[in-house]
Amino acid sequence: MRQHKRFITVEGGEGAGKTSVLKDLHQALILEGHDVLMTREPGGSVIAEKIRDVILDPAHKEMDDRTEALLYAAARRQHLTEKVLPHLEKGGVVLCDRYVDSSLVYQGGARGIGIEEVRELNHFATEAFYPGKTFYFDVSPEVGLGRIAANKGREFNRLDGESLAFHEQVRATYLTLAKEEPARITVIDAERTQDEVLRDVLQKTRAHLG
Ligand code: TYD
Repeated sequence: MRQHKRFITVEGGEGAGKTSVLKDLHQALILEGHDVLMTREPGGSVIAEKIRDVILDPAHKEMDDRTEALLYAAARRQHLTEKVLPHLEKGGVVLCDRYVDSSLVYQGGARGIGIEEVRELNHFATEAFYPGKTFYFDVSPEVGLGRIAANKGREFNRLDGESLAFHEQVRATYLTLAKEEPARITVIDAERTQDEVLRDVLQKTRAHLG
């Protein structure tokens, strides 16, 4: 496994608030003089965004679980080589909304393919390239799904319609991964206000970048 210190990912279940905090973190790091690329998975490049549309289309109810895992891995590969690696190579910081851990959790854990099989698939896709730091935004499914219901402007995707049990499984798998890799994955209490979460993540990012 290869890790890059300036590659930072943010993970979390639905409604964890990671996307808003990531935007503010991006601005704060730019003000501090970093050259920051903020990006997201699945997507972040023309080809990867097209794959994203296929995966997240609510009409694609017949999508097979392994097809889904392969599509995520394909989008990830394209985004990694086209966007992430070039930015790291020129000395920048990359902030990425979701990465391999999302596949381990959603496809490996919640969909039941198995974490190890999905890890192997992703080792192929990324050549075992990992972030130096991952923030996992932890909220209970009740709070997360409550936030989504309150935020009517947000697009509703295929996975939001899953059961509470699915979301419980997502959370449990993230917490297991965090226990396995405590040096890389930092658990963030995301039930606090957005300001509190931002302050916490910003301080931890500064400490990580040194
Ligand atoms: P998105 O609308 O970006 O949701 P969020 O704001 O919660 O990140 O949709 C991404 C969805 O895709 C999300 O439900 C998690 C899922 N996903 C996987 O199942 N596997 C993956 O590898 C990735 C990157 C995302």
